[in-house]
Order: sequence, then structure tokens, then C-alpha cells
Amino acid sequence: MCGIIGYIGKNDAAPILIEGLKRLEYRGYDSAGIATISDSGKIEIRKQTGKIVELEKVINQFPVNGNIGIAHTRWATHGAATLTNAHPHVGQTGKIAIVHNGIIENYATLKKHLENEGRKFITETDSEVIAHLIERHYLNDENKDSNNPLARLEKAVSDTVKMLEGTFGIAVLCDDIPDTIIGARKGSPLVLGIGRDAMFIASDINAFVTYTKQVIYLDDNEIVTINRDTYQTKTFERAPVSKDIEEISWDIDEIGRAGYDHFMLKEICEQPDSVRNAFIGRMLHEQATAKLGGLKLSNKDILNIDRILITACGTALHAGMVGKYIIEQLSGIPVEVDFASEFRYRNPIIRPNTLVLTISQSGETADTLAALREAKQKGATVMGICNVVGSTIARECDGGVYVHAGPEIGVASTKAFTSQVTVMILLAIYFARVRGLSRDTANEIMKALEKLPDAIQSVLDSRDSIKKVAEKYVDTQHAFFMGRNDQYPVALEGALKLKEISYIDANGYPAAEMKHGPIALIDEQHLTVALAPDSPLIEKMIANIQEIQARKGKIVTVTDIKNQMIEKLSDDVILIPKVHPALKPILMAIPMQLFAYYIAVARECDVDQPRNLAKSVTVE
Ligand code: F6R
Repeated sequence: MCGIIGYIGKNDAAPILIEGLKRLEYRGYDSAGIATISDSGKIEIRKQTGKIVELEKVINQFPVNGNIGIAHTRWATHGAATLTNAHPHVGQTGKIAIVHNGIIENYATLKKHLENEGRKFITETDSEVIAHLIERHYLNDENKDSNNPLARLEKAVSDTVKMLEGTFGIAVLCDDIPDTIIGARKGSPLVLGIGRDAMFIASDINAFVTYTKQVIYLDDNEIVTINRDTYQTKTFERAPVSKDIEEISWDIDEIGRAGYDHFMLKEICEQPDSVRNAFIGRMLHEQATAKLGGLKLSNKDILNIDRILITACGTALHAGMVGKYIIEQLSGIPVEVDFASEFRYRNPIIRPNTLVLTISQSGETADTLAALREAKQKGATVMGICNVVGSTIARECDGGVYVHAGPEIGVASTKAFTSQVTVMILLAIYFARVRGLSRDTANEIMKALEKLPDAIQSVLDSRDSIKKVAEKYVDTQHAFFMGRNDQYPVALEGALKLKEISYIDANGYPAAEMKHGPIALIDEQHLTVALAPDSPLIEKMIANIQEIQARKGKIVTVTDIKNQMIEKLSDDVILIPKVHPALKPILMAIPMQLFAYYIAVARECDVDQPRNLAKSVTVE
């Protein structure tokens, strides 16, 4: 978590850094700070607790100048969200300032060592050791002889990062070298933006996309030294590395709120397009299959797959769970789904023909990345289904598919989920066709997929009626979401959306599991959202709804059929259009997202930045 940005150019650094921080705020938002090298040649720091606007107020009151600076927005891991613990951090002399995203696992040992040498620490953070270590190396006797401060600083950073265990993306300023920022990365993302007479370094491209689309993704164990118009990338051992400049295609308009009250609502409403972007150009009707060249698998490879392991976290995991149903049903390949955080530590059984699929919107989630690495180490072929192009997971996989949902800024994932499921459907068709699925079935689903954006739009067009239903339940304290078969993961996702943005205690269950325990909680105040689209299991779902109604629980049913029993048993019914059975998990997710959104808004919650969360979970 945490977001960092550095700027060096001709303009005043502070406003550019603040603007960049605002775009990184989704990565953490409990405190923020900036350091510039001011016109007097000294490092000046401003920090504040809370969101970036609070820091902005401080800077308005106590301005900082200078054309070079680094900045940070924090999601606390070590030490509370206090002013002192906010970044940037400095060493003993104030000569060196750093910002850090990640976790230094051996910080306690390093700190003790540095304290024994007489260094004083003022924060509870793990990051402060980085500033002290760089300063110590920079000022040490051996190095003092060198009269080239830049060479000394580069060596000091290199010596420091080699001592750090854990994950980090850092940016470093030193007031002896007022035209340079040094960055380094291991395990946390860091990307360089090459502008006109300006250079940026940041946790992700959102931070500087208004200024440049020319980027270089740093890899683990790399250091970069930037000036206003040059950069040099090296390994931690200081061997030069040549890197390709890539051109990004995101537009600034895609990042703004475009008139919506919240990013979350904007992203929910973008789903006709984002789902279309996930399948466009990937369906070959003539051959009745999907084209997923990025997987780099031959038909022989696909025929040889004897098991698929899907691993991910949170919403991406739920998308994987939906994928299990469709892949197994169409292709006959057994699929297991596991939390990445469990997968990585449970000694997963990986055989030569096991295919591992990782799913991640950000492509930076620490647990998913670790699961990927574990799977690769065990010899698996690992594929990534990611949204963020060039992200670490995307780059470390053997192959993969981008979901092309566009930037997702709201902390609660919405459009990424429906795009991930869309890609899972294409993947299922692709694998299944190689393994004997009929042309007709494949084409039937693909044709239905082409019409799905219209069905999504019609749910969105009815959002005022979903809002009215949601507002009736604004005072709910506890909620269940229940569904069967491929609606079960959608129930989990509906519950996750509601709990994370409205703070209502919400849990998802397979509907039949209710009677094995959860139903004990049902009373007049308890809300159950039943996911009951038409299916061979509809009668069983109605029986489950009846069990809740008999215990006087409140029921909101989401369905795509007009059914008298459902209407009689439910307090409210949300009716959505009927689509192909394989696509129902996607369409059913939309009213879940809107329901959670409108309840959270009615409860006056911070929808885009819910408490205790961050968009990109780059810590374990
Ligand atoms: C929930 C949410 C999280 C993420 C999870 C994985 O709305 O956003 O549960 O889905 O942290 O993130 P990615 O997909 O970036 O790996």
C-alpha cells in the first residue's frame, strides 16, 4: 500500500506532487507528506494526518518552493497514522529524505544496530531505517573521500537496499545533489515517467499521466537515478540495465470522475463498455472459439492440462470462483480455487500438467504475487488475468490476458470483477473448444456475450428503483447474501461490497447452507438478499427464501423472472433482464454493486475510500 511520487522539472514541484498524490490516494489515505529541495538548497518537509486535502491546507498556509520533490500517501502498517509517522522520513542530519511503499521486515534489527551507533529515531515506522541507513552510508568515512556526491549517494542507496529484507519502492532526495532523485524497487511497484523537461517516479502511472505517457517499468532489484532530462537504470549491484520505454494508452478523462458523485458509481456505470472491452476482438465466430493469444498455449498444451488452480484475493477470488463453474462445465477440466494467502503457505500440489491462474485487478497484490512465485517455483505454468498493464503479476506470469477494464480508482472493485468473469468465460470457451465443446454451444454463448452490454445498460438505467429499495434498508445491521451454484460467488461478492463500503456486517452463503447454522441469526431486523435468477435450481431457491420468511427475516430478491411465489415471499424484488445462463453471474453482480453503493451513500460513508482499506494491497 501507500503511494509515492517524485518530480523533477522546471515547475514548482509542490502542486504537481499534490496532484499526483490525489491520484494515488486510493493506495492509502491516513496521512501524507512532501519534501522538496527549496530554492535555499535545503530539504523542506510538510506533513499532515488524514487525506491529501489536509496536507494541501498545510502547504497553502506554509508554502514550499523548489522544482524537485518527493511525496507520499500512507496506509499505516508500522506505527499509528500520526504526524510523526507520516512520510517523508529523514536521517539524523536532515540531508536525506525518503518516501517508502512496502514493508521492511528486518527493520527492528537494523534499527537496533543504528541506535547502538548513536542514531536517534523519532518514528515508529519501519521506513525510517531507510533514511538513516542511506545517510550513514553516504556520510561514512570511506565514502567521504569521494568528491562526487552523486556517485556517493548512488552507492549509499545501493548499499542500503542490499541490506533491506521485505518489500520496497523508494524515492530518495539529498540536498547536496539538488537536481537528482534516486528510486529503487523490490517487491513494490515503481514506474518512471519521462516528460518534456521533467521526470517522474511513482507507484503507478495514474500519478503522472496528465504529464506524460512515456513510461519505464522498473523491475525488482533495480535502481534509477533521474534528472530533469536524463535517467539511468542500474541493478542493485550498480550494473547498467537498459530498459524499454513504453507508451501507455490511458487517457486523463478515464481517470476523472466524469460528473459522477463517486468513482465507484462511475465505474459501475462504465460496465457496458468495460465488459465489451474484455471480449472485443477476442471472439472468432467462424472457428467458434475465443482468441487469447497472450496465454501462449498450443492446443497440445491445452489438451494436456489435467487440473487448473485459480488463486487470487477478495473480489478477484470471487471472479475465479465463478470461473470454476464455467470452466468445469464447458471444458471438463477440474478447477480448484484458493485464497492466494493460503495457497502460498499450504504446500499446494502442483503436477506437471497443472495450470495455475492468478487473477488480480492491480497486478500488485502481495499475496497473489507470492502465490504466483510459489507456483512457478514448483514448476507450474502460471497465467495472469490482470487489469493493470505492465503490473508485476502481469510481467512475472508465463502468459496471460488483460481484462482491459481501464483504471479502477474506487477502492471497492466493481468493473474489474465483471471484466474478470468475462475473460473467464472466454477462457472456458477456448479451452473447451480444444477439448470437444460443440461449435453451437460456443457460438451461442459468444453471441449472447455481444448482447450483454445492452442488458447491463438496462440494469443501470433502472438504478433509481434499486436506489429506492436500498434506501429502505439503510439502518440494517446484519445481512446475508445467498445464492446457489454460480450465484454463490456472486453472493460472496455482494456481501463483500456491502460490508466494505457501508460497514454493515454482511456475509455470503450457498443458500442451502443457511439451515446448517446461519439461519439461527434470522429475526425481524435481519436482511437477506436472495440471488434467484431463473435456473434449474429456482424451486430450491424459493424454498430457501421461504425458510427465511418463516423466521420473519427481511428479504430482497434479485431475479430475472416474474414469479408469484417470489413476490409473495419477498419484501422487495429487483427484476433484471434475462440473459444466457453462463452470463448470469455478470449481470446479477450489477444490482449487488448498486445496492451496496446506495446504502453506503445513504449512510454517508466514504464510498470511494472506505475506512481501513486501500486499493492495492502490496503488503502481506
Ligand atoms: C474488494 C476489493 C479487494 C480486491 C483484492 C484483490 O472490493 O477490491 O477485495 O479485490 O484486494 O486485489 P487485486 O484484484 O488488485 O489483486
